Amino acid sequence: MNQEAFLDSVSAVEFYVGSARQWAFYHEKAMGFTPVAYAGPETGVRDRVSYLMKQGKVSLILTSFLDPNSGIAQHIKLHGDGVHDISIKVPDIDVAIKTIEERGLIKPSKIQEIKGEGGKVRSAAVKTYGEKIHTLVDYSSYDREIPPGYEAIPQNSDHKGGRLKAIDHVVGNVEENKMDPWVEFYVKGMDFRQFMTFDDKDISTEYSALKSKVVEYNDRKIVFPINEPALGLKKSQIQEYLDYYKSPGVQHIALSTDNIVEAVSQLKKQGIEFLETPATYYDNLLDRVGKIDEDLDVLKRYSILVDRDDKGYMLQIFTKPIGDRPTFFYEIIQRKGGTSFGKGNFKALFEAIEREQAKRGNL
Ligand code: FE2
Repeated sequence: MNQEAFLDSVSAVEFYVGSARQWAFYHEKAMGFTPVAYAGPETGVRDRVSYLMKQGKVSLILTSFLDPNSGIAQHIKLHGDGVHDISIKVPDIDVAIKTIEERGLIKPSKIQEIKGEGGKVRSAAVKTYGEKIHTLVDYSSYDREIPPGYEAIPQNSDHKGGRLKAIDHVVGNVEENKMDPWVEFYVKGMDFRQFMTFDDKDISTEYSALKSKVVEYNDRKIVFPINEPALGLKKSQIQEYLDYYKSPGVQHIALSTDNIVEAVSQLKKQGIEFLETPATYYDNLLDRVGKIDEDLDVLKRYSILVDRDDKGYMLQIFTKPIGDRPTFFYEIIQRKGGTSFGKGNFKALFEAIEREQAKRGNL
Protein backbone atom coordinates (compact mmCIF):
# COMPACT_ATOMS: atom_id res chain seq x y z
CA MET A 1 0.00 0.00 0.00
CA ASN A 2 2.96 2.29 0.61
CA GLN A 3 4.14 2.43 -2.98
CA GLU A 4 7.07 4.66 -2.25
CA ALA A 5 7.86 3.36 1.24
CA PHE A 6 10.93 5.16 2.53
CA LEU A 7 11.23 2.81 5.51
CA ASP A 8 11.55 -0.95 5.14
CA SER A 9 11.43 -2.90 8.44
CA VAL A 10 13.11 -3.08 11.84
CA SER A 11 16.78 -3.77 11.16
CA ALA A 12 18.00 -4.54 14.70
CA VAL A 13 17.19 -3.73 18.30
CA GLU A 14 20.19 -2.61 20.36
CA PHE A 15 20.23 -3.01 24.14
CA TYR A 16 22.61 -1.21 26.49
CA VAL A 17 23.39 -3.73 29.23
CA GLY A 18 25.67 -4.19 32.23
CA SER A 19 27.44 -7.14 30.67
CA ALA A 20 27.11 -7.79 26.94
CA ARG A 21 28.88 -11.13 27.32
CA GLN A 22 26.36 -12.39 29.90
CA TRP A 23 23.38 -11.06 27.94
CA ALA A 24 24.75 -12.82 24.85
CA PHE A 25 25.10 -16.05 26.83
CA TYR A 26 21.47 -15.77 28.06
CA HIS A 27 20.16 -14.97 24.58
CA GLU A 28 22.09 -17.89 23.11
CA LYS A 29 21.46 -20.59 25.73
CA ALA A 30 17.97 -19.60 26.92
CA MET A 31 16.39 -17.63 24.05
CA GLY A 32 17.91 -19.67 21.20
CA PHE A 33 19.75 -16.85 19.39
CA THR A 34 23.01 -17.44 17.53
CA PRO A 35 25.93 -15.12 18.29
CA VAL A 36 26.93 -14.00 14.80
CA ALA A 37 29.42 -11.14 15.18
CA TYR A 38 31.46 -9.30 17.79
CA ALA A 39 32.86 -5.78 18.06
CA GLY A 40 35.24 -4.60 20.78
CA PRO A 41 38.90 -3.76 21.39
CA GLU A 42 39.96 -6.81 19.31
CA THR A 43 38.18 -5.32 16.28
CA GLY A 44 39.39 -1.76 16.83
CA VAL A 45 36.38 -0.49 18.83
CA ARG A 46 37.80 1.11 21.98
CA ASP A 47 34.88 2.26 24.13
CA ARG A 48 32.38 -0.61 23.96
CA VAL A 49 31.74 -4.30 23.38
CA SER A 50 28.86 -5.49 21.18
CA TYR A 51 27.48 -8.89 20.22
CA LEU A 52 25.22 -9.25 17.18
CA MET A 53 22.72 -12.08 17.84
CA LYS A 54 20.40 -13.57 15.20
CA GLN A 55 17.39 -15.87 15.11
CA GLY A 56 15.25 -16.12 11.98
CA LYS A 57 14.96 -12.53 10.76
CA VAL A 58 15.49 -11.09 14.25
CA SER A 59 18.73 -9.19 14.92
CA LEU A 60 19.67 -7.99 18.39
CA ILE A 61 22.77 -6.02 19.30
CA LEU A 62 23.87 -6.36 22.93
CA THR A 63 26.24 -3.56 23.91
CA SER A 64 28.11 -2.73 27.10
CA PHE A 65 30.64 -0.02 27.96
CA LEU A 66 34.37 -0.05 28.61
CA ASP A 67 34.57 3.64 29.57
CA PRO A 68 32.63 4.39 32.79
CA ASN A 69 32.12 8.01 31.70
CA SER A 70 30.50 7.07 28.42
CA GLY A 71 26.88 7.69 27.49
CA ILE A 72 26.35 3.92 27.49
CA ALA A 73 27.46 3.68 31.14
CA GLN A 74 25.17 6.58 32.11
CA HIS A 75 22.25 4.99 30.25
CA ILE A 76 22.72 1.73 32.17
CA LYS A 77 23.14 3.50 35.53
CA LEU A 78 19.88 5.42 35.05
CA HIS A 79 17.66 2.88 33.31
CA GLY A 80 19.18 -0.49 34.12
CA ASP A 81 19.50 -2.88 31.18
CA GLY A 82 17.25 -1.74 28.36
CA VAL A 83 16.67 -0.93 24.72
CA HIS A 84 18.60 2.02 23.30
CA ASP A 85 17.95 1.83 19.56
CA ILE A 86 15.22 0.34 17.39
CA SER A 87 17.00 0.69 14.09
CA ILE A 88 15.07 0.69 10.83
CA LYS A 89 16.37 -0.45 7.48
CA VAL A 90 15.77 2.07 4.69
CA PRO A 91 16.14 1.56 0.93
CA ASP A 92 17.70 5.01 0.43
CA ILE A 93 18.86 7.17 3.34
CA ASP A 94 18.79 10.40 1.31
CA VAL A 95 15.13 9.85 0.40
CA ALA A 96 14.25 8.82 3.99
CA ILE A 97 15.85 11.91 5.52
CA LYS A 98 14.40 14.25 2.89
CA THR A 99 10.90 12.83 3.44
CA ILE A 100 11.10 13.10 7.23
CA GLU A 101 12.44 16.66 7.00
CA GLU A 102 9.60 17.60 4.63
CA ARG A 103 7.02 16.38 7.17
CA GLY A 104 8.50 19.08 9.43
CA LEU A 105 7.98 17.43 12.83
CA ILE A 106 11.24 15.52 13.36
CA LYS A 107 14.83 16.66 12.90
CA PRO A 108 17.04 13.71 11.93
CA SER A 109 20.77 13.80 12.68
CA LYS A 110 23.33 14.27 9.90
CA ILE A 111 24.02 11.28 7.69
CA GLN A 112 27.04 9.23 8.79
CA GLU A 113 29.01 6.97 6.52
CA ILE A 114 30.94 3.95 7.79
CA LYS A 115 33.20 2.14 5.34
CA GLY A 116 34.14 -1.50 5.68
CA GLU A 117 35.25 -4.45 3.57
CA GLY A 118 31.74 -4.90 2.19
CA GLY A 119 31.34 -1.33 1.00
CA LYS A 120 29.71 1.49 2.94
CA VAL A 121 26.80 1.78 5.36
CA ARG A 122 25.04 5.13 5.61
CA SER A 123 22.81 6.02 8.55
CA ALA A 124 21.14 8.85 10.44
CA ALA A 125 19.29 8.85 13.74
CA VAL A 126 15.87 10.08 14.82
CA LYS A 127 15.16 10.67 18.53
CA THR A 128 11.96 9.16 19.86
CA TYR A 129 10.40 8.74 23.35
CA GLY A 130 12.68 8.75 26.41
CA GLU A 131 16.29 8.35 25.39
CA LYS A 132 15.41 5.93 22.59
CA ILE A 133 16.50 6.46 19.02
CA HIS A 134 15.71 5.00 15.61
CA THR A 135 18.87 4.68 13.58
CA LEU A 136 17.82 4.63 9.93
CA VAL A 137 20.30 2.38 8.14
CA ASP A 138 20.95 2.12 4.40
CA TYR A 139 22.77 -1.10 3.47
CA SER A 140 22.24 -0.69 -0.29
CA SER A 141 25.99 -0.15 -0.90
CA TYR A 142 27.13 -2.90 1.45
CA ASP A 143 27.28 -6.61 0.62
CA ARG A 144 28.51 -8.45 3.74
CA GLU A 145 26.40 -10.14 6.44
CA ILE A 146 28.64 -8.73 9.18
CA PRO A 147 28.36 -4.98 9.82
CA PRO A 148 31.48 -2.81 9.57
CA GLY A 149 33.55 -2.81 12.79
CA TYR A 150 32.43 -6.35 13.65
CA GLU A 151 34.11 -9.69 13.09
CA ALA A 152 32.29 -12.98 12.57
CA ILE A 153 31.99 -15.34 15.55
CA PRO A 154 32.91 -18.95 14.56
CA GLN A 155 29.72 -21.03 14.47
CA ASN A 156 29.19 -23.91 16.88
CA SER A 157 27.66 -26.82 14.94
CA ASP A 158 26.00 -28.17 18.15
CA HIS A 159 23.94 -24.99 18.57
CA LYS A 160 20.35 -25.90 17.72
CA GLY A 161 18.90 -22.43 17.41
CA GLY A 162 15.34 -21.49 18.25
CA ARG A 163 11.91 -21.36 16.66
CA LEU A 164 11.51 -17.57 16.65
CA LYS A 165 11.13 -15.99 13.22
CA ALA A 166 10.69 -12.23 13.23
CA ILE A 167 9.82 -9.13 15.23
CA ASP A 168 6.03 -8.77 15.28
CA HIS A 169 5.92 -5.50 17.25
CA VAL A 170 7.95 -3.33 19.64
CA VAL A 171 6.01 -1.64 22.45
CA GLY A 172 6.87 1.69 24.06
CA ASN A 173 5.68 2.93 27.47
CA VAL A 174 5.32 6.71 27.77
CA GLU A 175 4.02 9.03 30.51
CA GLU A 176 0.36 9.89 31.15
CA ASN A 177 -1.07 12.12 28.39
CA LYS A 178 2.01 11.52 26.21
CA MET A 179 0.61 8.68 24.08
CA ASP A 180 -1.19 10.97 21.60
CA PRO A 181 1.82 13.24 20.96
CA TRP A 182 3.98 10.17 20.27
CA VAL A 183 1.32 8.71 17.97
CA GLU A 184 1.40 12.03 16.13
CA PHE A 185 5.21 11.87 16.00
CA TYR A 186 5.01 8.62 14.02
CA VAL A 187 1.89 9.45 11.98
CA LYS A 188 2.63 13.06 11.04
CA GLY A 189 6.40 12.88 11.33
CA MET A 190 7.12 9.57 9.60
CA ASP A 191 3.97 8.58 7.63
CA PHE A 192 2.94 5.76 9.97
CA ARG A 193 -0.76 4.88 10.14
CA GLN A 194 -2.71 4.49 13.36
CA PHE A 195 -4.68 1.28 13.23
CA MET A 196 -5.88 0.35 16.65
CA THR A 197 -6.91 2.04 19.87
CA PHE A 198 -7.64 0.67 23.29
CA ASP A 199 -8.83 2.73 26.17
CA ASP A 200 -8.94 2.05 29.83
CA LYS A 201 -12.32 0.36 29.46
CA ASP A 202 -10.65 -2.31 27.32
CA ILE A 203 -7.46 -2.62 29.31
CA SER A 204 -8.21 -2.44 32.95
CA THR A 205 -8.70 -4.64 35.91
CA GLU A 206 -9.98 -3.75 39.31
CA TYR A 207 -6.55 -2.35 40.10
CA SER A 208 -4.56 -0.99 37.20
CA ALA A 209 -5.23 0.37 33.77
CA LEU A 210 -3.54 1.61 30.65
CA LYS A 211 -4.29 3.23 27.32
CA SER A 212 -2.72 2.00 24.11
CA LYS A 213 -2.62 3.02 20.46
CA VAL A 214 -0.87 1.14 17.67
CA VAL A 215 0.94 2.69 14.72
CA GLU A 216 2.18 0.71 11.73
CA TYR A 217 4.19 1.32 8.57
CA ASN A 218 4.58 -0.47 5.24
CA ASP A 219 1.78 -3.05 5.57
CA ARG A 220 2.65 -3.81 9.19
CA LYS A 221 6.32 -4.47 8.48
CA ILE A 222 6.89 -2.03 11.35
CA VAL A 223 4.41 -2.08 14.24
CA PHE A 224 4.81 0.10 17.33
CA PRO A 225 2.10 0.01 20.02
CA ILE A 226 2.43 2.92 22.48
CA ASN A 227 1.08 2.66 26.04
CA GLU A 228 0.45 5.25 28.71
CA PRO A 229 -0.73 4.68 32.29
CA ALA A 230 -4.38 5.23 33.11
CA LEU A 231 -6.01 5.74 36.44
CA GLY A 232 -6.96 2.59 38.32
CA LEU A 233 -7.61 1.84 41.95
CA LYS A 234 -3.92 1.12 42.32
CA LYS A 235 -0.73 1.79 40.40
CA SER A 236 -0.78 1.05 36.65
CA GLN A 237 1.81 -1.46 35.44
CA ILE A 238 2.94 1.25 32.97
CA GLN A 239 3.59 3.60 35.88
CA GLU A 240 5.61 0.89 37.64
CA TYR A 241 7.71 0.57 34.48
CA LEU A 242 8.25 4.36 34.31
CA ASP A 243 9.19 4.49 38.00
CA TYR A 244 11.86 1.83 37.59
CA TYR A 245 13.10 2.73 34.11
CA LYS A 246 13.22 6.42 35.12
CA SER A 247 11.88 7.51 31.73
CA PRO A 248 9.74 6.30 28.86
CA GLY A 249 11.21 3.26 27.12
CA VAL A 250 10.64 -0.05 25.39
CA GLN A 251 8.38 -2.34 27.42
CA HIS A 252 8.43 -5.47 25.30
CA ILE A 253 9.37 -6.97 21.95
CA ALA A 254 6.98 -9.54 20.48
CA LEU A 255 8.80 -12.29 18.58
CA SER A 256 6.76 -14.39 16.15
CA THR A 257 6.91 -18.14 15.68
CA ASP A 258 5.07 -20.64 13.46
CA ASN A 259 4.64 -23.09 16.34
CA ILE A 260 4.13 -21.44 19.70
CA VAL A 261 3.66 -24.71 21.60
CA GLU A 262 7.03 -26.06 20.46
CA ALA A 263 8.71 -22.67 20.87
CA VAL A 264 7.46 -22.21 24.43
CA SER A 265 8.23 -25.81 25.37
CA GLN A 266 11.81 -25.32 24.16
CA LEU A 267 12.21 -21.91 25.85
CA LYS A 268 10.90 -23.29 29.16
CA LYS A 269 13.36 -26.20 29.03
CA GLN A 270 16.11 -23.64 28.46
CA GLY A 271 15.10 -21.74 31.60
CA ILE A 272 12.89 -18.90 30.32
CA GLU A 273 10.22 -17.97 32.88
CA PHE A 274 6.78 -17.01 31.61
CA LEU A 275 3.89 -15.30 33.35
CA GLU A 276 1.41 -17.83 34.59
CA THR A 277 -2.22 -17.65 33.55
CA PRO A 278 -5.00 -18.35 36.04
CA ALA A 279 -6.47 -21.83 35.38
CA THR A 280 -9.95 -20.24 35.24
CA TYR A 281 -8.89 -18.37 32.06
CA TYR A 282 -9.24 -21.65 30.15
CA ASP A 283 -12.70 -22.54 31.52
CA ASN A 284 -14.62 -20.45 28.99
CA LEU A 285 -11.85 -19.90 26.44
CA LEU A 286 -13.46 -21.83 23.57
CA ASP A 287 -16.78 -19.98 24.10
CA ARG A 288 -14.85 -16.77 23.66
CA VAL A 289 -12.54 -17.64 20.73
CA GLY A 290 -14.36 -20.50 18.97
CA LYS A 291 -12.67 -23.48 17.35
CA ILE A 292 -8.86 -23.57 17.41
CA ASP A 293 -6.32 -26.09 16.08
CA GLU A 294 -4.43 -26.41 19.35
CA ASP A 295 -5.19 -28.76 22.23
CA LEU A 296 -6.69 -26.76 25.10
CA ASP A 297 -4.89 -28.86 27.73
CA VAL A 298 -1.54 -28.17 26.09
CA LEU A 299 -2.23 -24.42 25.99
CA LYS A 300 -3.26 -24.56 29.64
CA ARG A 301 -0.11 -26.48 30.60
CA TYR A 302 2.07 -23.77 29.03
CA SER A 303 -0.15 -20.78 30.02
CA ILE A 304 -0.53 -19.77 26.36
CA LEU A 305 -3.25 -17.15 25.74
CA VAL A 306 -5.61 -17.01 22.75
CA ASP A 307 -7.49 -14.10 21.21
CA ARG A 308 -9.72 -13.84 18.13
CA ASP A 309 -10.75 -10.97 15.88
CA ASP A 310 -12.68 -10.89 12.60
CA LYS A 311 -9.57 -11.96 10.63
CA GLY A 312 -8.63 -15.05 12.63
CA TYR A 313 -6.93 -15.82 15.91
CA MET A 314 -3.57 -15.42 17.59
CA LEU A 315 -1.73 -17.13 20.43
CA GLN A 316 0.58 -15.27 22.80
CA ILE A 317 2.56 -15.56 26.01
CA PHE A 318 4.72 -13.13 27.98
CA THR A 319 7.99 -13.75 29.80
CA LYS A 320 8.72 -12.31 33.21
CA PRO A 321 10.99 -9.23 33.07
CA ILE A 322 14.39 -10.52 31.94
CA GLY A 323 16.58 -8.06 33.89
CA ASP A 324 16.77 -6.93 37.51
CA ARG A 325 14.21 -4.14 37.28
CA PRO A 326 10.54 -4.89 36.45
CA THR A 327 10.90 -3.27 33.03
CA PHE A 328 11.67 -5.11 29.78
CA PHE A 329 10.16 -8.49 28.83
CA TYR A 330 9.52 -10.56 25.69
CA GLU A 331 6.27 -11.74 24.15
CA ILE A 332 6.11 -14.86 21.98
CA ILE A 333 3.30 -14.69 19.41
CA GLN A 334 1.84 -16.91 16.71
CA ARG A 335 -0.67 -15.38 14.33
CA LYS A 336 -3.24 -17.58 12.64
CA GLY A 337 -4.85 -14.77 10.69
CA GLY A 338 -5.52 -12.70 13.81
CA THR A 339 -4.23 -9.14 13.67
CA SER A 340 -4.95 -8.18 17.28
CA PHE A 341 -2.55 -7.65 20.14
CA GLY A 342 -4.58 -9.72 22.55
CA LYS A 343 -7.19 -7.22 23.68
CA GLY A 344 -9.33 -10.05 25.02
CA ASN A 345 -6.37 -11.30 27.02
CA PHE A 346 -5.54 -8.05 28.71
CA LYS A 347 -7.67 -8.71 31.76
CA ALA A 348 -6.30 -12.24 32.23
CA LEU A 349 -2.77 -11.03 31.58
CA PHE A 350 -2.96 -8.03 33.88
CA GLU A 351 -4.28 -10.11 36.71
CA ALA A 352 -1.19 -12.30 36.27
CA ILE A 353 1.13 -9.25 36.09
CA GLU A 354 -0.47 -7.74 39.16
CA ARG A 355 0.17 -10.86 41.20
CA GLU A 356 3.88 -10.33 40.43
CA GLN A 357 3.58 -6.59 41.12
CA ALA A 358 1.96 -7.32 44.52
CA LYS A 359 4.89 -9.61 45.42
CA ARG A 360 7.21 -6.63 44.92
CA GLY A 361 4.98 -4.46 47.14
CA ASN A 362 4.14 -2.06 44.30
CA LEU A 363 0.41 -2.50 43.94
FE1 FE2 B 1 2.56 -7.24 22.56
